[in-house]
Amino acid sequence: MRALRQVSHEGPKDLTYVEDVEVPTPGPGEVLLRVTSAGVNFADVSQTYGIYDGGPDAPYIAGFEVTGEIVGGDGEVGKHVIGFGNGAFAEYTVAPAAALMPIPEGWRDEQALGLVLNWATALAALKPLGRLAEGETVLIHAAAGGVGQAAVRMAKHYGARVIATASPAKHEAVRALGADVVLDYHGDQEGVAAAVNELGGADLVLESVGGETFAASLAAAKPVVGRVVVFGAVAGNASVSNWELIFKYRVSVIGLHIGALPQHAPEVYGWIMSEIERLREEGVYLPNDPTIYKLRDGARALKDLEGRGTVGKLAIVP
Ligand SMILES: NC(=O)c1ccc[n+]([C@@H]2O[C@H](COP(=O)([O-])OP(=O)(O)OC[C@H]3O[C@@H](n4cnc5c(N)ncnc54)[C@H](OP(=O)(O)O)[C@@H]3O)[C@@H](O)[C@H]2O)c1
Repeated sequence: MRALRQVSHEGPKDLTYVEDVEVPTPGPGEVLLRVTSAGVNFADVSQTYGIYDGGPDAPYIAGFEVTGEIVGGDGEVGKHVIGFGNGAFAEYTVAPAAALMPIPEGWRDEQALGLVLNWATALAALKPLGRLAEGETVLIHAAAGGVGQAAVRMAKHYGARVIATASPAKHEAVRALGADVVLDYHGDQEGVAAAVNELGGADLVLESVGGETFAASLAAAKPVVGRVVVFGAVAGNASVSNWELIFKYRVSVIGLHIGALPQHAPEVYGWIMSEIERLREEGVYLPNDPTIYKLRDGARALKDLEGRGTVGKLAIVP
């Protein structure tokens, strides 16, 4: 079958289109999917450098977020589903049957990309972990991105005031989602923290950027009551000392990895999934309109994501 194979730890430039891959065989509790689309996530970029904790070692068939038709294994043949399958940038992949979700009625498969990753992560950060309440202010970084767009839509739905950050070329798209204030955060992290504090400070910060932005996020959160949910490090690792937490920032810092929820907090994960279903019924969660790349051009999707040139969700179709 055709697929994208990562052949080094030197980034997306070595994500290589190949035609010589064997169709995988599903094991117990797994299904074989004919891939209809695969979601591109920042984690895919991190994996190509070998810096995603627990990620695969090169060479490997890349991609993990998938929609497809069940064609074999422990599942209902012919059903279209979304889930996680290592090696999703391919014509076929295997996926654990237990983690599959049906494609919402009337949606094309690729329109459901983001359901189990972007929306679940954004919702976990906002509600069960971030405890966002109506009338509060939330600072959402990378708000034009896959997770960011979902977060803005939900935060507005829950009655929050949204301060968003994004590259200037993406501000219009973020405003269209309903953000109240949009800031550029390039090169002036202190300026971002000062701007947020002038607006009264943030009750909640969705911290997915890291690097120099991390300190700005801590400084933008309201002392004592502010929460900073940390779930991404696209600009690099960052740290905070116990002294800084006690005497400088005085905020709550909360780590989030969505993959840990089904195992360590199944009731929280269950609530997230049913809340997403409710948001879909209420028209808050609408079908996605991802930017589509052909499998042959898949490396470009990861390069564009890494280069901050993208808005919203990206998909690779075989
Ligand atoms: N912990 C979890 O469970 C979990 C799950 C899903 C996603 N995530 C994280 O959530 C974040 C968003 O993921 P996504 O897949 O939806 O990606 P994305 O937001 O669509 O893309 C990343 C965005 O981050 C911004 N950015 C800021 N500094 C950057 C830098 N130095 N290099 C590259 N981009 C930079 C860019 O937006 P601007 O150009 O507007 O700045 C870029 O478009 C990532 O940190 C990802 O790792 C975490």
